[in-house]
Amino acid sequence: MDAELTDQEKELTQKESVDILTRLQVVLKIAKVYESNNRIVLDQMEQFIAVLDNALQREGELVLRLRQNALYVKGVRIKFDYSNYHIYKFLQNELSSKELAAIAFSPGLTQEEIQRFVSILNRKDLDAKTAYDEILHALDVEQIDHITVEKSAPAEPMQSREKNAVRLYFSGIYLLKEVFERQKTTGTFNLNLAKRWMQSIFNHIVDDESFIYGLTNIKNFDEYTLNHSINVCILAIALGRRLGLTREELSDLGVSSFLHDLGKLDIPREILDKPAQLDATERAIIENHVHIGAEKLIQLKSTRRIPIRAVQVALEHHLKADLSGYPKYFKKRSTNLFSKIVKIVDYFDALTTKRVYRAKVFTRDDALSLMQEKSGEEFDPLILKVFISMIGAYPIGSLVALDTGELGIVFEANPHPAFHLRPKVKIIADADGNKVDGELIDLTEIDPETRKFSRTIMRSLEAEKYGIQPADYFLAKAE
Ligand SMILES: [Fe+2]
Ligand SMILES: [Fe+2]
Repeated sequence: MDAELTDQEKELTQKESVDILTRLQVVLKIAKVYESNNRIVLDQMEQFIAVLDNALQREGELVLRLRQNALYVKGVRIKFDYSNYHIYKFLQNELSSKELAAIAFSPGLTQEEIQRFVSILNRKDLDAKTAYDEILHALDVEQIDHITVEKSAPAEPMQSREKNAVRLYFSGIYLLKEVFERQKTTGTFNLNLAKRWMQSIFNHIVDDESFIYGLTNIKNFDEYTLNHSINVCILAIALGRRLGLTREELSDLGVSSFLHDLGKLDIPREILDKPAQLDATERAIIENHVHIGAEKLIQLKSTRRIPIRAVQVALEHHLKADLSGYPKYFKKRSTNLFSKIVKIVDYFDALTTKRVYRAKVFTRDDALSLMQEKSGEEFDPLILKVFISMIGAYPIGSLVALDTGELGIVFEANPHPAFHLRPKVKIIADADGNKVDGELIDLTEIDPETRKFSRTIMRSLEAEKYGIQPADYFLAKAE
């Protein structure tokens, strides 16, 4: 059992552990490329054993454990951020692909043992299904006495990973709601909390891009600005990632896009949700949200620095690519990249969400083609292109009409790029329009008689119009 640690000890463990894990990662990685007696490998090993040995001498045994998508050292969860997330990802993959839940190092460990252990882990003939037994056997044969391993539980089925992502979306809503409330009452903003959530979103996008941004289809769950801010944030991170931004930049982009409409929080609901045309004063109040937002961001009392680009995004996200739009005083030749990204995803989310003042809710396809028409004048053409290619397939949670006359909800993206228009769909209405609790159908299924696809999506539909809340189906799944 791991003993209880004081906060100070935990803090120390964090730093030291990240150091140890980083060096372990380097050793494992380069040993895949070079022979184990290569000078570079040996050098790195020496460095690794130096930091590890230090910890072992002081503390005794050191256990590295993978549990529920997090790494623990001495029972303390190691926090990774965007800059070193790849280290976590690598080690997680190393451990899980070899059926390992934990590696324990004990005092007395020698460099030779590490060397032999690394070559065992890197053995190409390890079979994923029996890796644990093979490693255990090898440890014994090679007389590696100061390293032990633990076996992991069977891999999580795909379904529960989806459940996690659905939960993550809703937990984000509650979490950020709290952040917003606090901002309203005390003017403080817990940037760390928001960043942590964004990091989980980022991790999920890395695992499966289509799944997480498909979740933005779950609309009307809570008040508009909150729901909208989360969607814009998820879409912006996904788009920024496609555009090749670094993890650090994505973290700033996440914060900037999440806070882009901060200036709207104080606008009275009667104006925000007014079903009729706004008069000049009301329009001015709405347009002023860009100034208020920027001012608020500058004044925010935060635990950490609010990125300066967040201020720019708040100010610039209603400016068009040709610099018309508002605010009017702009003398710049161009808006910054983040503002261009947020401009696009903000517009898209607004179009595809039902608002009282707009008669029409655009389907995703309609929204994209409308936006395409405004390419160049309203939107940056290149970024829009990348966005359209990213979101072009049928996203999770969308309602679709099939050529059989049935209606379905897209439940799972097809990972194969050639079949991105053939996801898995849950049938929710039969050909006669009766609601059914239908099967989950894979649209790549071929009818053995006709030798053609059994079902094909004809078009996407507005869930709202059919009185369907895709969120209900997903929530049922997340129970
Ligand atoms: Fe806005
Ligand atoms: Fe917005």
